[in-house]
Amino acid sequence: MSRQELTIGLFGFGCVGTGLYEVLAKTPTLKTTLKTVCIKHPHKSRKAPDHLFTTDPGAILNDPDINVVVELIDDADSAYAIVKTALLSGKAVVTANKKMLAEHLEELLAIQATTGVPLLYEAACCASIPIIRNLEEYYDNDLLESIQGIVNGSTNYILTRALEDNLTMNAALAQAQALGYAESNPILDTGGFDAKYKLVILLAHAFGLVVRPEEVFHCGIDQIGQLEWDYARAHNLKIKLVAHAYKTPGGSISAFVLPTFVAPDNKLYGVDDVFNGVVTQTCFADTQFFMGKGAGAYPTASAVLSDISALTYHYRYEHKKYNSAERLTPAEDIQLKVFLRHDLAHSTQFKRHFESIEACFTNRDAGYLIGTITLAALQVLMAHPGASLSPIALEVVHPAAVAWTQPTAEAAVLVS
Ligand code: HSE
Repeated sequence: MSRQELTIGLFGFGCVGTGLYEVLAKTPTLKTTLKTVCIKHPHKSRKAPDHLFTTDPGAILNDPDINVVVELIDDADSAYAIVKTALLSGKAVVTANKKMLAEHLEELLAIQATTGVPLLYEAACCASIPIIRNLEEYYDNDLLESIQGIVNGSTNYILTRALEDNLTMNAALAQAQALGYAESNPILDTGGFDAKYKLVILLAHAFGLVVRPEEVFHCGIDQIGQLEWDYARAHNLKIKLVAHAYKTPGGSISAFVLPTFVAPDNKLYGVDDVFNGVVTQTCFADTQFFMGKGAGAYPTASAVLSDISALTYHYRYEHKKYNSAERLTPAEDIQLKVFLRHDLAHSTQFKRHFESIEACFTNRDAGYLIGTITLAALQVLMAHPGASLSPIALEVVHPAAVAWTQPTAEAAVLVS
């Protein structure tokens, strides 16, 4: 098949847009021309010729020479308008905007299906790890049983520096911002939203399951406190923000994002700083592991570059799993073993939500429980008004999946 010549219109020239500009300049073999770059603030100094820049989106969207729109802006609502307009006018789109994709996935898939115009977004999940194309192309629908991933680079950087350097979470966040990893609104990172958006996208390609972001339960890292770090250190565990998805025995999918204690025998234990990692569990291949930088200008630009290159070969996602007759539904019947830190005022109140309790601990300031709880009950509990709660997953109890190695209950009560 002959390679298609591409004329690109780029939206956004921030961290990733600038990275892409540099990466394209170093990839002369790619048959592409960057014709126009649409930016918001015309007076910023930029390391690219002035004639490239415009503040008028129409200069790209209405230009018949431009056959590919690369969308790398920060604002999900504007990104949605750009992407939709581009697709409907027959321009292929490459985007890295996970929030926009997660919020509009069903509609965008429908537009792609009716127009046949490609929409690629490898950079939206785990930046440099080619996870979407692997889930899309390599895994057959019923072979994948679970995925667990560290999918947000900023929170992984923060958790790594907090454990290794004893940095406060705020100080570590400031470093992640300075390194260009964090979202411009960092609550999206620390609150677990960004990881959830990425999980929504992964679910579509792993299992063909398209859900709204608000259907996926998530907790971020912003509630993690001293007791959790003491527990981690005492048991040689790390705390990671993990996106989980499990196929249940009935064939439905349970998905959630939770801080998770990870033991040294887990592949995700060695995934530190800005690195992301994804562990897949399949029927026949057993466990597989992907790792790479999950944020930053060049790692993200590398995934955008790969999508641009794929377009030259007329590549598009087929969404075979999504389009297959058998549909999967979200499930909440999963049971988790969790560590739940609570304030002293609520030390007994939460026990009734648990199926069983293995350990309890309190000191002068706070306490924790370790026990088994359904995901549905945990959601109810976390919506409890006024309670200061911090859950960390220890293990998936049901369905039996990748077990997180965990300390014993006796060891748990010794932490002080
Ligand atoms: N803020 C995101 C992260 C950027 O830290 O993972 C890459 O999607």
